[in-house]
Amino acid sequence: MTLAEFLAKLSALEGEAPGRIAGTSSLDEWTVLRNALVGRQAGEFTAIMNELGSLPKEERREAGARANAVKVALEDALEVRRAQLTAKAAESGPKLDLTMPARDRWQGTVHPVSMVIDEVVEIFRELGFTIALGPEAEHAWYNFGALNFPADHPAMDLHDTLYLGADQVLRTHTSPVQVRTLQQYPPPVRILAPGNVYRRDFFDPSHAPMFAQIEGLVVDEGISFADLKATLSHFARRYFGPHTKTRFRPSYFPFTEPSAEMDVQCGVCDGEGCAVCKHSGWIEILGSGMVHPAVLEAAGLDSEKYTGWAFGMGPARTAISRHAIPDIRILYDSDVRFLEQFGR
Ligand code: DAH
Repeated sequence: MTLAEFLAKLSALEGEAPGRIAGTSSLDEWTVLRNALVGRQAGEFTAIMNELGSLPKEERREAGARANAVKVALEDALEVRRAQLTAKAAESGPKLDLTMPARDRWQGTVHPVSMVIDEVVEIFRELGFTIALGPEAEHAWYNFGALNFPADHPAMDLHDTLYLGADQVLRTHTSPVQVRTLQQYPPPVRILAPGNVYRRDFFDPSHAPMFAQIEGLVVDEGISFADLKATLSHFARRYFGPHTKTRFRPSYFPFTEPSAEMDVQCGVCDGEGCAVCKHSGWIEILGSGMVHPAVLEAAGLDSEKYTGWAFGMGPARTAISRHAIPDIRILYDSDVRFLEQFGR
C-alpha cells in the first residue's frame, strides 16, 4: 500500500462515518457500529491501521498523525451520538420522580394473644418457672387417661374431641404436658406450658376450634393449696395491677383435687357490674387445683412424697376481657386493621 492509498482510505472512512453514526437509532445499534468502526478485533479503522507497518519508514510519521486525527474525530462523533441516544432512552423509559415520598415500611405487630402469653410467661419467669412444650398431636392416654379422666368421660366423646386415630387426638388442652414433664424431670418442677389446643367446636362469638392455653405446674415435697393461692394471687396483681382483688370458687377437674377457679374483679367497672363482666363484677381467669395423686402416680411419682398444684388459662379470653373485644373470631380473622391497633 502506498501512502496515498492509505490516506485515501482514512479520508473515505472519515467522510462516511458521521452519516452512519447519526443513523443509529438505539444504544444497541450504536454499540454494533462502534465495534464495526473502531473495535480492536475487526474495526474498519483498525484494519487500516494494520497497514501502517507496510509503509516505508519515512512515510509512517505523516500517516500516523493523520490516522490519529481521524480516530479522534470518530470517537468524538461516537460520544456525541451515545449521549443523544442515552438521553432519548431515559425520556421514553419509566420516569423517576425524585420528589415522591418514600413508601411506608410495613412493620408487623405482636398478636394480642401472643402479647398475653409473653406477659404471663414473663411474670412466672420471675418466680423461677421455665417453659415446657408438648405435641399438639397427642396420645389419648396423655390427654385423658393419665389425667384421671374416667373411661366414660363426655370430653372423650367424638362430639368434643378431634381424633386422628384410635389412640391419637389433637390435644384438647395443654394439661398433658404436665405428665410428659413429670416423666422427664424429677421434682422440684416449676413449668409453664403455652400452646395451641383443639376442640370440636364451630366458630361463634365465644368459641373457636383452635385456641391457645397456658398450663402451669408446680410439684415438689410439701407443696400446699396455700402455695397455689399465693402464687396465683401474686400473678393477678402483677398482671392486672397491685390492687386487683381475686376470689377462688370451688370447681371440678378430673386431674385436680380440690379444684378452684380464680376470678379477678372486673377492671372495667371495678366490680360494679358492666357488659364486660356480664354484670357480675368478676371475670373468670383460670382453672386450678392440687394435682390429683392419680396424675402423679401415672407420671411415675410417689404421691405420698410429692404434692403439687396446677392451673390452666386461656389467653384469648384474657385478651378479650382486657381489650373489651366483642367477638373471639376477630382474633383469628387476621384483619390487619384490627391487629395493627395492638402494635408495640
Ligand atoms: N385443662 C383444663 C381445660 O382445658 C384447664 C385446667 C384447669 C388446667 C385446672 C389445669 C387445672 O392445670 O389445674 O379446661
